[in-house]
Amino acid sequence: MLDGKRLLITGVATPESIATAVAMRCRDLGAEVVLSAYPRDLDGVRAVAADLLGGAPVLSLDVTDPRDVARAVEDVRRDIGALDGALHAVAYAPPDALQGRLGDADPDGVELAFRTSAWSFSALGGLLESTAPPSGGSLVGLDFDADDRAWPTYNWMGVCKAALRSSARYLARDLGPRHIRVNLVAAGPLRTRAASAIPGFELLTGAWASTAPMPWDPTDPAPVADATCFLLSDLARAVTGEVLHVDAGFHAMATTRPD
Ligand SMILES: NC(=O)c1ccc[n+]([C@@H]2O[C@H](COP(=O)([O-])OP(=O)(O)OC[C@H]3O[C@@H](n4cnc5c(N)ncnc54)[C@H](O)[C@@H]3O)[C@@H](O)[C@H]2O)c1
Repeated sequence: MLDGKRLLITGVATPESIATAVAMRCRDLGAEVVLSAYPRDLDGVRAVAADLLGGAPVLSLDVTDPRDVARAVEDVRRDIGALDGALHAVAYAPPDALQGRLGDADPDGVELAFRTSAWSFSALGGLLESTAPPSGGSLVGLDFDADDRAWPTYNWMGVCKAALRSSARYLARDLGPRHIRVNLVAAGPLRTRAASAIPGFELLTGAWASTAPMPWDPTDPAPVADATCFLLSDLARAVTGEVLHVDAGFHAMATTRPD
């Protein structure tokens, strides 16, 4: 399904990262994969690449830094020539932006959360635009269903995900003429390092257990990886500006508040 595709996968940190599952599945399906690592995570990402991803090359990339993104364009051209697709699997918010009253969070932390979790999607779109062949490519980001509801926790990350969703539509507009598609996968809750930073994450898995019409396994990112591979592939060649829910149907159900 991905034979001959050259893909940049951001967001690998640990073996449990959603991006690790995506990278593994992309390789299974024939793609050539390059990983990018947040500089602080570089050693860990190299270990994951060696253990699980056949020694895939690893670029250092802080997606909040435009100079880093410009350097990554050169690294990609040198290491792999061109890119047919990229996965954005990056998010961060300081603890006080994830819980409590929304207005109590430090605005500097909120800005960092926005730059890391939302603005960086357009930066990665720019990187793909600079390195994709004339036939175009596919940009996929990872969303959590948070743009139309307030969770008991998640706070500014929910606001960032709403911005991610909106920016996916604008990027689909801007990059469409270049034959670059832009889509999101809205995943159900999965136990990763980022998830462990969300206070009350169990409230989310509990909501899934009580509301999703199908079973949802928060330890298995493989369904999200498979759907991401579809969006990265030519099977999705006319799909752009879309949000594909991979959440066991949670988003389609009405919820009731517990007594
Ligand atoms: N885990 C879930 O329940 C869940 C559900 C839906 C969506 N998501 C989204 O999936 C994506 C991946 O998260 P995950 O759950 O696999 O957790 P994770 O902790 O494994 O991955 C988060 C990644 O963000 C990277 N990162 C943070 N700041 C960065 C920066 N400035 N530059 C480059 N990389 C940076 C980290 O290095 C890490 O690799 C995130 O966008 C997250 O919001 C997660």
